Amino acid sequence: MNIESALIPVDELATAVDGFLAASPAARAWDVETAFDWSRADANRLTDGQRSAVRFVTLIEDHLPGYFDVYHRYFPVDDSVSRAAFLHNRELYHFTVRWALEEDTHARALARYQEASGMTERGTLRAELAVEGQKPFDLPYQHPVQFFAYALVQEKATQMYYQQLRDVVDDPVLATMLARLSRDEARHFSFMADVVARYLRAQGDATVQPIRDVIATFRMPLADTMRGYWRWALKIADVASYDHTEAYEHLVKVIDRAVDTRSDRLDELVRFIEECRSLA
Ligand SMILES: [Fe+2]
Ligand SMILES: [Fe+2]
Repeated sequence: MNIESALIPVDELATAVDGFLAASPAARAWDVETAFDWSRADANRLTDGQRSAVRFVTLIEDHLPGYFDVYHRYFPVDDSVSRAAFLHNRELYHFTVRWALEEDTHARALARYQEASGMTERGTLRAELAVEGQKPFDLPYQHPVQFFAYALVQEKATQMYYQQLRDVVDDPVLATMLARLSRDEARHFSFMADVVARYLRAQGDATVQPIRDVIATFRMPLADTMRGYWRWALKIADVASYDHTEAYEHLVKVIDRAVDTRSDRLDELVRFIEECRSLA
């Protein structure tokens, strides 16, 4: 299987990108500089676990250059692909640059919070982030739907993480920021869900094995490279769980909505996803 040969038609992808951008007007955008009153940020109002949860997700968001790079490698916007693939990838690029800007804003907002609230100093944090930031990130997939199915799960899991954390923190600056972050992740999820649904409708059973492989091998970003990742994720789980399996039911919903009647193979895929969820 080769990524180029399995792309959905460019008009399908372009409609999904247009939908995402229509749902993201400039009037609803926010920025680190003006959205919050940083002078009121106060980490003394947080528990150790909550501070730890903020530090954890700052590392994850800060790895954006690695995530962004995956799109360039697998959906190149140059002469290494056919004209048809270029047309598709150029449309996708309208999404990825906007998405990357938003994710980079998340990384900056979290870092700014850590600094303004007294959790750390800027230089210390910068050096800390570099340790994970320099490590490689890859999603070695063969079929294009896999990148969108992966991101669908990951965006939803991150959205849920921010919501859970927001519900328990006592610092209003952090709570307001987490609400912004979770709303952005929800919009990112919707785009991924839209694209996955379009693949399901266009390619049907041919998407089953690729999606199954994504779930079978699923790791949240940095799970394999960050030192102490699992211990850390477990330690903060009672504050906010960073658990991809909680997002699986949303993938099942996307499948259900995309197709009127499930084929046997799709049925089997849904059963598999549900099993992976209950095993966790
Ligand atoms: Fe984010
Ligand atoms: Fe996101």
